[in-house]
Amino acid sequence: MVNPFQFGKVVRDKQFCNRQRELHDLTSTIKSGNSLWLYSPRRFGKTSLIINVFSRIENVKTVYFDLFNIRDNREFATKYLNILTHELFTWKHGVTSILKKLSDYLKNVTPTVSLDAIGNPSIGLDIKPKEISRTIESILELPQKLNYPKPICIAFDEFQEVERLDPFLKNIMRSVFQHQQDVSYIFLGSKESLMNAIFSDAKSPFFQFGDKMNLGPISSSDLTSYIKSMFNETKLPIQQSTIENILQLSECHPHYTQYAAYVAWDLIFQDIPQNDNFKDIWLSRIIESQSDAFRTIYEQLNANQRKVLYALSDLNGQSILANDTMIKYNLPPKSTINTALNSLLRKTLILRSNGSYKFENPIFKIWINRLYD
Ligand SMILES: Nc1ncnc2c1ncn2[C@@H]1O[C@H](COP(=O)(O)OP(=O)(O)OP(=O)(O)O)[C@@H](O)[C@H]1O
Ligand SMILES: [Mg+2]
Repeated sequence: MVNPFQFGKVVRDKQFCNRQRELHDLTSTIKSGNSLWLYSPRRFGKTSLIINVFSRIENVKTVYFDLFNIRDNREFATKYLNILTHELFTWKHGVTSILKKLSDYLKNVTPTVSLDAIGNPSIGLDIKPKEISRTIESILELPQKLNYPKPICIAFDEFQEVERLDPFLKNIMRSVFQHQQDVSYIFLGSKESLMNAIFSDAKSPFFQFGDKMNLGPISSSDLTSYIKSMFNETKLPIQQSTIENILQLSECHPHYTQYAAYVAWDLIFQDIPQNDNFKDIWLSRIIESQSDAFRTIYEQLNANQRKVLYALSDLNGQSILANDTMIKYNLPPKSTINTALNSLLRKTLILRSNGSYKFENPIFKIWINRLYD
């Protein structure tokens, strides 16, 4: 039998838990032709959400483009143009008609077509170095110029990568996108990465160009029903206490919930009884599987960062900068704590949430806490 819990990839259909409100809000933003910044900490489900919205929405042409594996602005130009031509052009009139159209729309560049290994046509561009910005601009203009019969919505995933591709790309994008009446955009990324890489502050004109959606965890009641239904479907029993332990560990973070439920399912499938020892077996299995990776991270931290992390793993809501906390955990002076916090934030090992600091990864939090037991 196949384990029904999935992590590390986009979840769809039955695997996709709830998010009804977000599905509804995103759909209406797109239908009203508005653009949107969709951000959250890592692995909260941004990509899964947009893929599920796109697969359900009607009367809007949707295009998904991931910037993660794009090496430079040249590759951006070619890959983005290929996605656009595959999604927005009618191929039944033949390749020559497409090339003719593209040559009309694109400035200073002649597109060519070749067939890939499985016979799919692929558009090539021979861009002269001096022409790259102009060519990208004309590709970005393309969706609006096509007179497509439906409104178009384009999602750029891992949008913070845009800065790495070309520091001017975001400026070209904004100046082109703001004139497009029939095309809306969804920009996905973590807020920290977007802010670090692209905007110095939330008032930047590009950031103001779209609505914002800050994706949160999934509610514990939704996750409880979800876990139960996955166990029911695979005809395995799960106790309420096991579900509670999973959610207590994961803090309702979608990725870690799936991961913890995956391990629990595997143990229950092997007939390990859900008795008093079950939590220990399950938790050790989870922590052991990650400990090599955690050790590598830990070895790269200096003594103050380690102390601060341990204190954070042990605190229950108290401020790390409170005097008694500093004494209890033998912490360095406040300015040194702040330096350590900032570097841990930059490494995204911790996040700032409602004025306090928390671990990005709840399993790492337990691992650190156990190191000093
Ligand atoms: N709605 C959901 N229902 C169930 N599981 C989910 C849901 N959303 C996310 N997950 C879990 O979280 C994992 C990460 O989801 P996804 O890749 O969509 O997140 P992301 O925010 O795009 O991540 P990244 O920051 O790496 O881009 C999924 O593989 C899945 O295990
Ligand atoms: Mg993603």
